[in-house]
Amino acid sequence: MTLHFAIVGCGYVADLYMEALKSHPELRLQGVWDRDPERLRAFCAFHGVRAYVSYQALLTDGAVELVANLTNPREHFKVSEAALLAHKHVYSEKPLATELPDAQTLVEMAEARGLFITSAPCSVLGETAQTIWKLLRQQQIGTPRLVYAELDDGNVAAMDHAKWISASGAPWPAQDEFEVGCTLEHAGYHLTWLTAFFGPVHRMTTFSRVVQPDKGFVGLQPAPDFAAACFEFGNGVVARLTCSIYGAHDHRMRFFGDDGTISIDRIWDYGAPVHLTRRNRWTSRAEKYPLLARLTGLGPKRVPLVRQPPVKGRGLFGKNGMDFCRGIADLGEALANGTSPHLTARWALHVTEVVLAMQSPMVYGDTREIHTRFPPMTPMPWAKG
Ligand SMILES: NC(=O)c1ccc[n+]([C@@H]2O[C@H](COP(=O)([O-])OP(=O)(O)OC[C@H]3O[C@@H](n4cnc5c(N)ncnc54)[C@H](O)[C@@H]3O)[C@@H](O)[C@H]2O)c1
Repeated sequence: MTLHFAIVGCGYVADLYMEALKSHPELRLQGVWDRDPERLRAFCAFHGVRAYVSYQALLTDGAVELVANLTNPREHFKVSEAALLAHKHVYSEKPLATELPDAQTLVEMAEARGLFITSAPCSVLGETAQTIWKLLRQQQIGTPRLVYAELDDGNVAAMDHAKWISASGAPWPAQDEFEVGCTLEHAGYHLTWLTAFFGPVHRMTTFSRVVQPDKGFVGLQPAPDFAAACFEFGNGVVARLTCSIYGAHDHRMRFFGDDGTISIDRIWDYGAPVHLTRRNRWTSRAEKYPLLARLTGLGPKRVPLVRQPPVKGRGLFGKNGMDFCRGIADLGEALANGTSPHLTARWALHVTEVVLAMQSPMVYGDTREIHTRFPPMTPMPWAKG
């Protein structure tokens, strides 16, 4: 069945949604809205889509079932709130809201109205994430106990970001990104995976700082550009996550278990190869004498041993390999089947709480017990077993 939806916010990321949309025939875009008239015009001209005359006009279009909120993070709450009040389902870009009470309000509003609301990222529905989860469930590395995860993008302020322009001409919103903060923007990628695999975070400890205050904008109010946090999950697994826009580019995720390691190099890529390294009788010696291990070829090998399904439409997903529309499609499928989507409102709320606490220990405490909970995610049907 077809899901009819509309986009609010026709900026940089909206162009990436438009590319991904080409691989989702089950989604029909009814029209778009942006409060910046020039941006709205350029976007509609480039993509050949219909512009609404106002947000109100979009919300009163009875054909629109779901609003994709692709506005800037600090606008998310009011745009999503208006959509829920108009009885539309909502798929929000991350984070759900920039204040925890606002995120809570949105979830409660949606529940009271029998509507779905959730937030990006949706990469946990992807082939790489689901393959890792299956390997963990199959105990391929024995008992997993520790995870290291990184989302470092290099010194972004020193890069030529003024030249980063989307297909329809939207500049990458550098100032907004620096003020919202890289942790609020990015920690959700790893955290959705971790909480899908290991359940809710129970306790966390975090540290964040602005390590480079001058990012080339007069009057900039920079958010922390570095944060590191450790999380304890209910099943005893511990994870360490680092986010920065200063440290050298690193998008890895490594799961350490008693019998081996699962690792990927590109968290954003839905088809990133999954490497499985099993401990063997040479492992301890190889760890002690890495040069000897390299020269002799003894010790465990990190090879993409794992077969994983191909990603449909991957050629459309840009250099990062992200299918931005998969979360919307998941909501559409749930609506068509009368089921619950994989990405639930309560889960988005939990991830939002953890991400906010990671970026702002000065507000949420260096150490925090996390009490939000969510129904466990079920694996994608093709990744069961
Ligand atoms: N830029 C990226 O690479 C990227 C990647 C993934 C996710 N995201 C997320 O996507 C969202 C948007 O980011 P972006 O990079 O596209 O920003 P952007 O500034 O390029 O685009 C946002 C657009 O929303 C419009 N807008 C803002 N408030 C509005 C409102 N109240 N009503 C109508 N229109 C409004 C702005 O005019 C702008 O055109 C953010 O949540 C961001 O975290 C961005």
